[in-house]
Parts: sequence; structure tokens; C-alpha cells
Amino acid sequence: MEEPAEPIYELKSARYLARDVLRRAVRPGDRAVDATMGNGHDTLFLCEAVGPGGHVFSFDIQAQALENTERLLTENGVRGRASLFQTGHQEMDRFVREKVRAVVFNLGWLPGGNHEMTTRWETTREAVTKALNLLEPMGVLVLCAYPGHDEGARELRELSGLFASLSNREYNVLHQRFLNAGPGAPECFVIQKQR
Ligand SMILES: C[S@@+](CC[C@H](N)C(=O)[O-])C[C@H]1O[C@@H](n2cnc3c(N)ncnc32)[C@H](O)[C@@H]1O
Repeated sequence: MEEPAEPIYELKSARYLARDVLRRAVRPGDRAVDATMGNGHDTLFLCEAVGPGGHVFSFDIQAQALENTERLLTENGVRGRASLFQTGHQEMDRFVREKVRAVVFNLGWLPGGNHEMTTRWETTREAVTKALNLLEPMGVLVLCAYPGHDEGARELRELSGLFASLSNREYNVLHQRFLNAGPGAPECFVIQKQR
């Protein structure tokens, strides 16, 4: 049998859904924010999506995240497309002065790292509020939450309330979750600012 030209669509995970949205929303020349840089996979993805004419602003509180991301971007030849800040994402408005097409949050801790260095509701709330204000019309905020630990469960609960309270004249809000995945499975929110 012949291979299909396009890979088969696979309904896989919250992260996969988040990528799918970003792939559709981000275009060459856009500006985007990675609010939780970690090992740099989302920053690399965004750098490739915005192309040489675009720019990505990435934040993390850990030096290790910046080192790992710097290496990944350099290896892939896109280091010049991103500004990396060792700063909490709640400060993003100090560094991002123009509207952006997309902001991605992947909450929790650095994979393989210190679980104490996790995102926390108080700062997540501030960062998400600032990110919503930074979106250009039709821009998207994509967020993956991990309710499998106490702070992650708190973030998910509080975020659901915050997002549900947004005006539907200003934003469209989608909450995606795998109903049969069991407790603690990651969940994804997509918020698009209206025209
Ligand atoms: C799940 S990881 C992100 C993974 C990353 N997106 C990737 O592609 O590799 C979450 C990251 O959030 C970072 N973090 C925690 N609190 C933060 C804050 N206030 N501002 C920015 N980053 C924060 C952690 O240090 C950790 O690296």
C-alpha cells in the first residue's frame, strides 16, 4: 500500500494539541513568547515557525533552562531568532513591548530537574493576565497544565475560573481534556483574542 502524503492525525496528548494550535496560528514574521522555556523545545518550535523575519521571547527562572535552550537553538541554527531571559514570566511586559501572535505556557517543573522550581498560581496568574494583554487580534495563548501534583491541581482549578470569566466578546476560550485518561492527566487551554 502507498504511504499517505500527510502523516495520519493522531489524537495524542495535551502537548500535542498545543503544538497543533501553534502550528496553525503562528506564521513567518510573527512575534511569539515562550513563558516557560525549560529545555527549549517550545522555543525551538516557535523559532522555526516565525522564521528568520520573526522573533521569540523566552522566559525561565533557572539558569539551567537558559543553558539548555541556548545550546538547542544554536545546534539548530536559529539562536538569532530568540531573546532568552532568566526572569519570571510575570515580568514579561517589561521585555516584550509589542503585541505578539502567540504565547505558550507549559506549566510545572523542568523535566529531570528540581520539583521545587515549579510554576505557582500567584505568579502564573500575573503572567497569564499580562500575556492576554499582549495578544494581537487573532493571537492565541496556549497553556498546558499538570494537575497530577498539588500545586498543578491548584493552578488548573484557578485557571479554569479565570479563563471562564473572560468576556466572550473579547476572547474565545477552549478547554481540552482527555476524559478517559484518568486523574492527573495534563489538560490544555487555548484562548484566542477576537478581531
Ligand atoms: C514543564 S517546564 C517547561 C518545558 C519547556 N516548555 C520545554 O519545551 O522544554 C516548566 C518550566 O517553568 C519554569 N518556571 C517556573 N516558574 C517560572 C516563572 N515564574 N517564570 C518562568 N518560568 C518558570 C521552570 O523552571 C521550568 O523550566
